[in-house]
Amino acid sequence: MNPFDTQAPVPGIKHILFVGSGKGGVGKSTVAANLALALKTKGCKVGLLDADIYGPSLPRMFGAINQNPEVNEDKKIFPIQRYGLKLMSIGFLVAEESSVIWRGPMLFKAMDQFFRDVIWGELDYLVIDLPPGTGDIPLTLAQKVPISGAVTVTTPQNLSLIDAKKALDMWERINVPNLGVVENMAGFVIPGQDEPLAMFPKGELDGYLDQKGLTKMASIPFHPTIAMSSEAGIPFMESQSDSNESQAYTQMANIVLERLKI
Ligand SMILES: Nc1ncnc2c1ncn2[C@@H]1O[C@H](COP(=O)(O)OP(=O)(O)O)[C@@H](O)[C@H]1O
Ligand SMILES: [Mg+2]
Repeated sequence: MNPFDTQAPVPGIKHILFVGSGKGGVGKSTVAANLALALKTKGCKVGLLDADIYGPSLPRMFGAINQNPEVNEDKKIFPIQRYGLKLMSIGFLVAEESSVIWRGPMLFKAMDQFFRDVIWGELDYLVIDLPPGTGDIPLTLAQKVPISGAVTVTTPQNLSLIDAKKALDMWERINVPNLGVVENMAGFVIPGQDEPLAMFPKGELDGYLDQKGLTKMASIPFHPTIAMSSEAGIPFMESQSDSNESQAYTQMANIVLERLKI
């Protein structure tokens, strides 16, 4: 049997998107949150699912730590609502300082519950913030539900690109369409200086994308306010949506809207 024959669409959800990367700390959660908000600004109904079971970021990024989702009499869970998005994370179910120590079967069950037991309602897009790597979680998700496309996040240097390539290879092997690659932390704009400071050496990303015919969805500079907004629990696209940097997230949302029609 084809392992992807087990996929079942989630009623009410039009498109499910992956935001992933082979690597940790490159900005997956930040991209996922701000892309979700950019899509909402375009008038879409959007949900954001934090699938990073071992390192959930979403509750803190959305100022929702210690929020407990409401549960109805059928034990179905209502997502937490923030800034017009529907949010779900293991972080709403487990205290921030507690770790989750699970083996495969528990993970599979949790992934299932995220779709079958959460009352998502009608969504144009459900954005999934993945953990780093090409392991059990993206594989299980792709076996359970049809994924319309993947956004891959990398920083400019080759040490990040080699891991991003593995994620791109995985999407291909599990039949998830590639929406493109986001170059994050691409230079630091110093006020009064013309050239942005390259925080990471420029690697072979552009050549690689050309060679593979992949889209560069956006190049997002390092901007202290992007990190600060997440710390403060009001993501950048909510607090600074008219800034120059916000255009990168809007550009990504436009590509998603163009490629995955609703
Ligand atoms: N473009 C950016 N400018 C400034 N800080 C960023 C940017 N992108 C991500 N960050 C910060 O870098 C850290 C890692 O980002 P995060 O999204 O948590 O990465 P990942 O989910 O890949 O592990 C966070 O503190 C985040 O706020
Ligand atoms: Mg993350």
